[in-house]
Amino acid sequence: MKRRDFLKVSASAVAAMSVMSEFPALAACKGKKSKLKPRDLSFRPDGKFKLLQLTDTHYISGDPRSDRSLSCVREMLEAEKPDLVIHTGDIIFGKPDRQSMIEILAPLAESGIPWAVTLGNHDAQFGSTRAELMEIILAQPGCINQPSVSGLAGEGNSIITLSGPSGVERVFYLFDTGDSVVLKGEEARKCYDYIRTSQILWYKEASEKFRGANGGVPIHSIAFMHIPLREIKSGLESKHSSFLAGNNCEQPCPSRLNSGLYAQFREMGDVEAIVTGHDHDCDYVLDYGQIYWIYGRYSGGDTVYNHLGIEGKSEEKLSGARVFEFARGESSFRTWVRLQGGIIQQELLLAAPPREVR
Ligand SMILES: [Fe+2]
Repeated sequence: MKRRDFLKVSASAVAAMSVMSEFPALAACKGKKSKLKPRDLSFRPDGKFKLLQLTDTHYISGDPRSDRSLSCVREMLEAEKPDLVIHTGDIIFGKPDRQSMIEILAPLAESGIPWAVTLGNHDAQFGSTRAELMEIILAQPGCINQPSVSGLAGEGNSIITLSGPSGVERVFYLFDTGDSVVLKGEEARKCYDYIRTSQILWYKEASEKFRGANGGVPIHSIAFMHIPLREIKSGLESKHSSFLAGNNCEQPCPSRLNSGLYAQFREMGDVEAIVTGHDHDCDYVLDYGQIYWIYGRYSGGDTVYNHLGIEGKSEEKLSGARVFEFARGESSFRTWVRLQGGIIQQELLLAAPPREVR
């Protein structure tokens, strides 16, 4: 069976779309654009589903320092043959920004694999706004981001569901963590952007609907975003956290403002992992506060800082990607990091944390 055959909307997917149509935000989104793309995906016939996370490609068209970035994206797609790709931002890093965006996303667009992005803090720093960039991204074949919704902060906030025969088994929430903000009285201090209240309410509404359609049981969910949430710093310092694997070669750089999203995740009890990019010299998995805090592996070239090799900082820098594998009917999931050249690291089987619904 061809990949696109089993990725088409199935009967269970139709049920999922029915649930999604109950979300006012998503309903508005459907009415805003005529191009409605399927956002509900199915497991392969063997019951598996593989998600490839790319991050921080920082691509610049025509710049040879970006060669490694483009070759990395191509190699990861070819080696893993994923069922879904999520790029967690800082996709580009210079002018011509629109051409850069199209070129680095071309391997995804040509792959026939559905894909989506969360924009990074650098993407809209080279002429085009976040909205303009998302228009370009949405026009590329295979993109399943949802169009912007009036009243919902950010661009590209999206919900992707993974369904089995009995309905939705997993939900992937994609959040736009923005660029940076200038705080009154603190103009001299850089502050990364933060998740806004409208995004938290958008997530909460969706989470409640999915849980309601599942007999009151939260759906296993993962949140993808570019900038990590502030609580990751507490997790690194906590004696109650467990560092499971990976490189921790720089301090995390979240927003200085606490959005409250982590607290909402805890209250809803469905998000089991927060997957980010942003800090290029981190690719670790931290178990803290009933949630896995997971960095992707830097997928870029040499247009920006990056120092990770095979083990920690190294003269021989290697780009790569993180992979997630889900199995139909199973609450745990697998993750690993693939490096260019075929090296596999950090093979983990992560059990679903205990549910905490308030
Ligand atoms: Fe970056």
